[in-house]
Amino acid sequence: MDPQTATPEDRAAALSEAEAKARLEDLATTIARADEAYHRDDAPWIPDAEYDALKRENAALEARFPHLKRRDSPSDRVGAAPAEGFAKVRHRMRMMSLGNAFEDEDLRDFVTGIRRYLGLAPDAPLAFTAEPKIDGLSLSLRYEDGRLVQAATRGDGEVGENVTANARTIADIPQTVEDAPEVLEVRGEVYMSHADFEALNTRQSARGDKTFANPRNAAAGSLRQLDPAITRARPLRFFAYSWGELSDPLAATQIAALDRLDSLGFQTNPLTELCETVDDMLAHYRQIEQARATLGYDIDGVVYKVDDLALQSRLGFRSTTPRWAIAHKFPAELAWTRLEAIDIQVGRTGALSPVARLKPVTVGGVVVSNATLHNEDYIAGRDATGAPIRGGKDIREGDWVQVYRAGDVIPKVADVDLSNRPEGAAPYAFPATCPQCGSDAVREEGDSVRRCTGGLVCPAQAVEKLKHFVSRSAFDIEGLGAKQVEQFHADGWIAEPADIFALQDRYGSGLQQVKNREGWGEKSAENLFRAIEEKRTIPLKRLIFSLGIRHVGEVAAADLARHFGTWDKLAQTVDRAARAGAAARRAEDAVAAERAAAADEGRKPRLADTKAAVWADVPQEARAAWEEITGIDGIGATVAQALVTAFGQPRERASIDRLVACLEVEPEAAPTAADSPVAGKTVVFTGSLEKMTRAEAKARAEALGAKVSGSVSAKTDLLVAGPGAGSKAKKAADLGVETIDEDAWLALIGDG
Ligand code: IVH
Repeated sequence: MDPQTATPEDRAAALSEAEAKARLEDLATTIARADEAYHRDDAPWIPDAEYDALKRENAALEARFPHLKRRDSPSDRVGAAPAEGFAKVRHRMRMMSLGNAFEDEDLRDFVTGIRRYLGLAPDAPLAFTAEPKIDGLSLSLRYEDGRLVQAATRGDGEVGENVTANARTIADIPQTVEDAPEVLEVRGEVYMSHADFEALNTRQSARGDKTFANPRNAAAGSLRQLDPAITRARPLRFFAYSWGELSDPLAATQIAALDRLDSLGFQTNPLTELCETVDDMLAHYRQIEQARATLGYDIDGVVYKVDDLALQSRLGFRSTTPRWAIAHKFPAELAWTRLEAIDIQVGRTGALSPVARLKPVTVGGVVVSNATLHNEDYIAGRDATGAPIRGGKDIREGDWVQVYRAGDVIPKVADVDLSNRPEGAAPYAFPATCPQCGSDAVREEGDSVRRCTGGLVCPAQAVEKLKHFVSRSAFDIEGLGAKQVEQFHADGWIAEPADIFALQDRYGSGLQQVKNREGWGEKSAENLFRAIEEKRTIPLKRLIFSLGIRHVGEVAAADLARHFGTWDKLAQTVDRAARAGAAARRAEDAVAAERAAAADEGRKPRLADTKAAVWADVPQEARAAWEEITGIDGIGATVAQALVTAFGQPRERASIDRLVACLEVEPEAAPTAADSPVAGKTVVFTGSLEKMTRAEAKARAEALGAKVSGSVSAKTDLLVAGPGAGSKAKKAADLGVETIDEDAWLALIGDG
């Protein structure tokens, strides 16, 4: 498969179920990391187009294997948790993200899907607004009795940052509005024009201050200043395009609502148009694309929204995106330049990541000098399955390469021009040892990444592990961030997490020594020790997450904590399971071999026997422990294996034990029941529904935590039967399953 032409959907289609599972796990981690970099740190880590491709691949895999959908699935999340420093604001109505279309065909599918969902005839009218997608950051403005009372960033969609004082400095944002609903939440995009961005960067560099990579980062950095005087000095603008809570509706259609916002004193985008057909929508897309270079601000696509607000409310939302809107993205931007060198960076789990050092080149208005080269195979010109990519062309130092980005920094090397290859350029030899510590760097079967085996001996890994340990979702020690960890590690003060808790004692006069360091004073040193002491008591799930065990992210850590309740129970079970881990791996291999043999011999594979033979050697206790771990909802063999590996490595285990000995680990309380009346229930719909389509009914039920099934069985809790219900109603009656009609269902879910 050639990734230059293969779509993310093609890539998803090529994977087996086991590969898909592992890939979904990678995608969850990578996308979460990209979300944090982009939304929380204003420092994008991968280009937008690449991010979009990852999300598409994730969605395609989930569509193929719905049962593999993870509980931390990126499709259920927008953005990242808010940064520290601002008060948090819980949005009364969630701030949503948008689904993406890349090809004209995606847009046609989107419109067809909406018609089907609403049960509209193909010729029934269905109008959409089309407007530019502004490349800035979204902001929600709350007015009460006509006065601006609060401005909040999106954050993770549920909780954002309170930036009211800063928003008040933006000229496009009215302080008061007349003849508006009593409660009015206006949502839109804060952005910076190209001219203002250039001028700001010139001023910044003249003063020796940090310059911004692009207008979006400049806008985000300027809005999220703790000092509003700084925001005031930055020329930010605002386009209104949507709303949150309202005490009265603004209008009956999207376009009329925008007019209303306009008359209330907000800027709305002048390129917004009402389109009656898909062809109109595409024509307007091309028109906006043409105008893009002359607009004077960045846009990265066109947003289409169902115009009729009553239909919007029927269509409702998926977990993070409205069903009634979609963003049609512009294609990526490209440039050619010289690849000067390939550097290798070492990450927390020891992954060796190749980075291209480029002769600086401007791509879409941004100077690019580094790009990702993904992994060893990518450089060699093959994909994970060994099939050629870029027609099999490898990448060498000195090559003339194509750099690709779409909107944001850290772009990637997409192609190579062999006709420009310098004479004598040698194929790139990916290091077989870690460039940081010299340990062997090995690549496990099925892994696209080569990893350093040095563990905590490797300074790069140790530092990354420590950074993870102190990060916000882990120990979150105030005053001990990535920078401080790097310094303390470089000076030999901390080599592993337990050392953090010994800092004060080990440096006897800890305070004295810390305060003598550059950048520290008596107060900050005291605060640091206090913050460390506070974290000696830590919730179990945070402890598990903080260990930085491969595949054990925040969600898995919480699942494990909920199941085991205490550290000792977890550790004992993992230790007991150790002997089963190897058997599980052997069983997988044996099953694969048996399948192949059976296929060759034209017989049915004897899978149960094969598995039983491997497991026969494993002590019952080990097997029970393994089954207990893999039986936890959301935890599979990959996580179990990773736990067993980490706990079974003597050095790593000793380091974990030293840490736990310093701590008071808070046990995890048993889970509480969810509050929707249908949460956790299995519901079946049958017969014809009159107030909504089947798809709509299913989506509403799932949003309330119910499981919707297509057939009635003993596991069914509730059958919702409309007129014309047949065999399912009969079967439900036979099984004693409760059966109600559509109105009773609506009353039950509070929608009657
Ligand atoms: S509508 C419920 N319209 O794009 C729908 N969003 O990728 C909310 N954006 O979070 C969004 N221009 O920050 C909408 N004309 C526009 C937009 C727009 C830019 C941003 C917005 C959103 C993101 C989704």
